[in-house]
Amino acid sequence: MPLVCVCSPKGGVGKTTLAANLAWSLARAGSKVLAIDFDVQNALRLHFGVPLQDGRGYVARADEQADWSQSILTTGGNIFVLPYGEVTEAQRERFEENLAKDPHFLRRGLDTVLNYPGLVIIADFPPGPGPALKAMQALADMHMVVMLADTASVSLLPQVENHRMIGQPLNARHGHYFVLNQSDNRRNISREVTAFMQQRLGENLLGVIHRDESVAEANAAQQSVYDFSPASAAAFDIELVAKRVANILHIHVGNGEVQAPIRSKY
Ligand SMILES: Nc1ncnc2c1ncn2[C@@H]1O[C@H](COP(=O)(O)OP(=O)(O)OP(=O)(O)O)[C@@H](O)[C@H]1O
Ligand SMILES: [Mg+2]
Repeated sequence: MPLVCVCSPKGGVGKTTLAANLAWSLARAGSKVLAIDFDVQNALRLHFGVPLQDGRGYVARADEQADWSQSILTTGGNIFVLPYGEVTEAQRERFEENLAKDPHFLRRGLDTVLNYPGLVIIADFPPGPGPALKAMQALADMHMVVMLADTASVSLLPQVENHRMIGQPLNARHGHYFVLNQSDNRRNISREVTAFMQQRLGENLLGVIHRDESVAEANAAQQSVYDFSPASAAAFDIELVAKRVANILHIHVGNGEVQAPIRSKY
């Protein structure tokens, strides 16, 4: 049950987009994948074709329904989705209180999926710290921290490196890794920050993903970047990141490797 958390100290950096595309890449390579949403924005499901008006999710009933797997939606394929769902303010507060106060709450909710043989779990988080990210520390195999190729991300790096996100290292197993998103070769700052991050993070940088219009267009079409535009720079970059994640977590993939498309841009 390799479990990957996608998080960031910063909002709007591409966490949900990358969580969804990582799920697609690993599913395409032969894994069964469950995508779980821990963000009240409830946006992850939209990447998998769940209609906007479908407000089902596990959070509203997380109290009385101890096994959250009952709220899993199928997408027709190797991917399953556990949406946060539409909730009232009181339900969100109750959920966060349970996460913060009951050390077994999260494990109980995910027990069935954690014990499902070979299932890869990708969890998407809201920006910044929070009770879900903290509770996940004990369960996750690795964390993927998404940053942008901008100066604000550089200034937030110490928050992650000095364990200020949850007051302790994000991950106790394989550790935390970074992805630099929306890197743009045409902009000086972006080039400089990318070079700086590559040097500073070294092997802990899983990959750099180009800023690419295909990403927003694929999101709008509720498709993976790979399916929407397989020859795009972002599709190539995302496949490489997925391949590194699979290698780190020893995720068995169909042909021994996550397939990367032929690079045609940049
Ligand atoms: N590599 C990229 N190139 C171009 N646009 C991108 C790229 N990655 C993400 N985007 C766009 O950036 C926007 C934010 O992405 P997303 O919602 O995935 O971020 P997030 O970190 O999950 O945000 P939040 O903090 O609100 O949860 C979206 O419009 C998405 O299409
Ligand atoms: Mg998001």
